[in-house]
Amino acid sequence: MENITKICCIGAGYVGGPTMAMIAKKCPHIQVTVVDLNEARIKAWNDEDVNNIPVYEPGLSDVVAEARGRNLFFSTEVDKAIDEAQMIFISVNTPTKTYGAGKGQAADLKWIELCARQIANISKDNKIIVEKSTLPVRTASAIKDILTHTGNGVQFQILSNPEFLAEGTAVEDLDAPDRVLIGGDNTPEGKVAVQALVDIYANWVPKERILTTNVWSSELSKLTANAFLAQRVSSINSLTEICEQTEADINEVAKAIGTDSRIGPKFLKASVGFGGSCFQKDILNLVYIARSYGLQEVADYWEQVIIMNDHQKRRFANQIIKNLYNTVNGKKIAFFGWAFKKDTNDTRESAAIYVADHLLNEQAHISVYDPKVPENQVYADLDYLNTREAEENKAGVQVITDPYEACKGSHAIAVLTEWDEFKGYDWQRIYDNMLKPAKIFDGRNLLDADKLRAIGFQVRSIGTNV
Ligand code: NAD
Ligand code: UGA
Repeated sequence: MENITKICCIGAGYVGGPTMAMIAKKCPHIQVTVVDLNEARIKAWNDEDVNNIPVYEPGLSDVVAEARGRNLFFSTEVDKAIDEAQMIFISVNTPTKTYGAGKGQAADLKWIELCARQIANISKDNKIIVEKSTLPVRTASAIKDILTHTGNGVQFQILSNPEFLAEGTAVEDLDAPDRVLIGGDNTPEGKVAVQALVDIYANWVPKERILTTNVWSSELSKLTANAFLAQRVSSINSLTEICEQTEADINEVAKAIGTDSRIGPKFLKASVGFGGSCFQKDILNLVYIARSYGLQEVADYWEQVIIMNDHQKRRFANQIIKNLYNTVNGKKIAFFGWAFKKDTNDTRESAAIYVADHLLNEQAHISVYDPKVPENQVYADLDYLNTREAEENKAGVQVITDPYEACKGSHAIAVLTEWDEFKGYDWQRIYDNMLKPAKIFDGRNLLDADKLRAIGFQVRSIGTNV
């Protein structure tokens, strides 16, 4: 294959948008077109004011501003972009199935298959297809099957190139990745395709950080990486409960074990539970794959990571109830944060949603403040659970754009997301406007509990017993 000069990416979401913006920035000689069926999303990516792009990520608007209109384009013309591209990234959503066989565990590959069929229909010349979405191991063989039965003589090479960026740090992660992983066939044509993708990343990623493997190792490594990361969070969270019983302090324990270079300090921050669009979905997928091969013990092992995470979210909500004298009926609880982590407007699988749902069942009134999440998203997240009517969610939850207003007259504040700005608030002012005793439940160990106690707050930080 000749040098790649035209790339298309199907899916302009949290992965497609930022990854393609970075490729376009680093490779001005390559024309990058990101396409999506969602017209509103594409319109937002093309918004004149680059601050209105649909994905909030620190530094992303600058990257988009530099390349957009030069060699980065966002469009709804999917067929045209497929036709023109030599390399096509598939970066569509792969959520957990909500129906049929594998419901609640397997990945729903409906959108992946639609892309493959569309590529098969449109393509008139040879193309490299890159799996950017996170996929179950062996998905490439299904894609290949669809693409090679078109009968039009077009040759396709399928590569796996999973994305490891984390939301909130996507730009840094893409600019200086720990590694780029590319899986391809061990045939002469497969090797040429792998090299074509290596050459693109080599424009800014040091060669030793570009790993090449077979397709299956690459697909499985992505699920494995997320499973390991989530497992660390569940492991530390499981110990918060022991700490709360024993006067050990989870922050001290995390530091003590994290200084062992074999364990390392990252991903040991205790929390109200992990969220995000991928950890749960990818582990469930791994569990499903293991079960489908009859590997019961392997499946049970990984499933425990999810069980512990669900427990942590429920436990946090129950602690609030218990501490508010066993009833939250009619009580106002302010939520600081709704996003699943700081520096993102993404709320998918955020712990806040489940904690709110639990408290609403107990008839609490919740007022939510999040610096980046809009009101309609909060209601959409709660309505999606189908626990109660939309009107009841509206009646039980208020979304407030001023943090001081959000906690005025409240019985308690629950910190659900670790936004930095929470630390710098005028906590005396907050205290003065709350009902007494004024309580804080810090699900992120974000706030300085001693300082807050000096003001008069009663504080419970997760994994500590003071
Ligand atoms: P997303 O839902 O934000 O974006 C997917 C986009 O694909 C949507 O805008 C949707 O309209 C579009 N789409 C679906 N089918 C289409 C079709 N046939 N034609 C055109 N557009 C179509 O999802 P995301 O968060 O970007 O995740 C995409 C994939 O990347 C998933 O497999 C996910 O597991 C993986 N991933 C996500 C992250 C993350 O941080 N969000 C990180 C690494 C990997
Ligand atoms: C995660 C992985 O970190 C990425 O490598 C991967 O590409 C991505 O999933 C994906 O496949 O979607 P992301 O979910 O964006 O990225 O964010 P993380 O920083 O991993 O945080 C996930 C959740 O775990 C958040 O709710 C976060 O608050 C929580 N967490 C993380 C903790 O509770 N404690 C920690 O120590 C770390």
